[in-house]
Amino acid sequence: MDDSRAALLGDGRAWAPPGRLEGLPPYPLADVPDIKARLLAEGRTVMDLGVGDPGLPVPEAAVETLREAVGNPALSKYGFQRGAPRYRQAIAGWLSRRFDADVDPDLEVLPVIGSKEAIALTAFAVLDPGDTVLIPDPGYAPYFGGPYFAGADVIRYGLRAEEGYLIPPDAIRRARGRLRLVYINYPNNPTSAVAEADYLQEVVDACREREAVLLFDNAYSEITFDGFRAPGLLEMDGGREVGLEFHSMSKTYNMTGWRLGWATGDRGLIGALRRVKTFFDTGAFMALQTAGAAVLENPDEYIRFNLDQLGRRRAAAVSAFRDAGLDVTAPRGTLYLWFRVPGQSTSEDFCRRLLIDSGVVLLPGSAMGPGGEGFVRASLAIPEDRWEEAGRRIQEAL
Ligand SMILES: Cc1ncc(COP(=O)(O)O)c(C=O)c1O
Repeated sequence: MDDSRAALLGDGRAWAPPGRLEGLPPYPLADVPDIKARLLAEGRTVMDLGVGDPGLPVPEAAVETLREAVGNPALSKYGFQRGAPRYRQAIAGWLSRRFDADVDPDLEVLPVIGSKEAIALTAFAVLDPGDTVLIPDPGYAPYFGGPYFAGADVIRYGLRAEEGYLIPPDAIRRARGRLRLVYINYPNNPTSAVAEADYLQEVVDACREREAVLLFDNAYSEITFDGFRAPGLLEMDGGREVGLEFHSMSKTYNMTGWRLGWATGDRGLIGALRRVKTFFDTGAFMALQTAGAAVLENPDEYIRFNLDQLGRRRAAAVSAFRDAGLDVTAPRGTLYLWFRVPGQSTSEDFCRRLLIDSGVVLLPGSAMGPGGEGFVRASLAIPEDRWEEAGRRIQEAL
């Protein structure tokens, strides 16, 4: 593609310094929106299982509190990095209830504008160019994006079913170069693997030995099934000092668009990330933070509702996909079914073909890194009563 065409397409390549954007991994299925539009124009319906957004109702407390908060002029001011004190306190209270941890709301909590931005920006707080970073492959985009833009040497650890999709602590011990940052995420997107507390402790120990910062992405901590309880860094010996843990209101409370999350952990790192963020943003809207606080102050009933809904979807999804001949197991955590592509096609070809033939959107595993090739992710994004149809459509297309 020549540069003038790239500029017209608006993908920014024509404006980027040589190599910068070219070095980013390509996005498989960039043509999905066009295919979807074409199918809709033909009068067909599309079932989108590609995005991790269940579309369940947000907690009432969020909506009611926001309604009032938008009318409060004090909350229309800049939030800056520390944000609304009530939000930080509510986060500390939530962490105390969930992990039995005493967290200082001023020094050990940092409000973030959805956890994605801050997960990426942590790289700028921790890394010098040329430092090494270990990330899971497949994995969430900012684990690569932050370190890549910070000029780090990114090692992708290929997650394997035989290893329970865990990064072995020895891979941390043996990683090449000056290892400064390790990203892990359990319950895991996209593989839906969960990690036990013993494993997390071993990772903490390995990072301490290597003097590497651990970034533990715990976005799915409250989305677990069959009695599994996800552990947190604050429960580990040395966990608070070794790095940062990120939480998000996106999945736990179905508030994806509200862009509310937080980091907790080592005070020095919280300070460093706060400092970096002063150069990138000026905080989330404080009315939203106040609404988030109202939810976090009374969180448990909603979490039960959410798990009940997602649990029903999970059961319907597993049964419909098995009936369609797909080899799926019920996830113990997250919103995702992760399974092998049936037959010989690449993940991308399989998903494109399936979309055209059945109108069902799935995410090719390769969209989340080369280690995801050969796999597909389906998200619990549609109501319980629609899975049978999704399964039937897939079966017909296969
Ligand atoms: C692994 C992982 N971490 C974090 C998030 C949450 O992102 P945010 O808080 O920016 O909505 C997601 C959302 O998809 C995710 O999959």
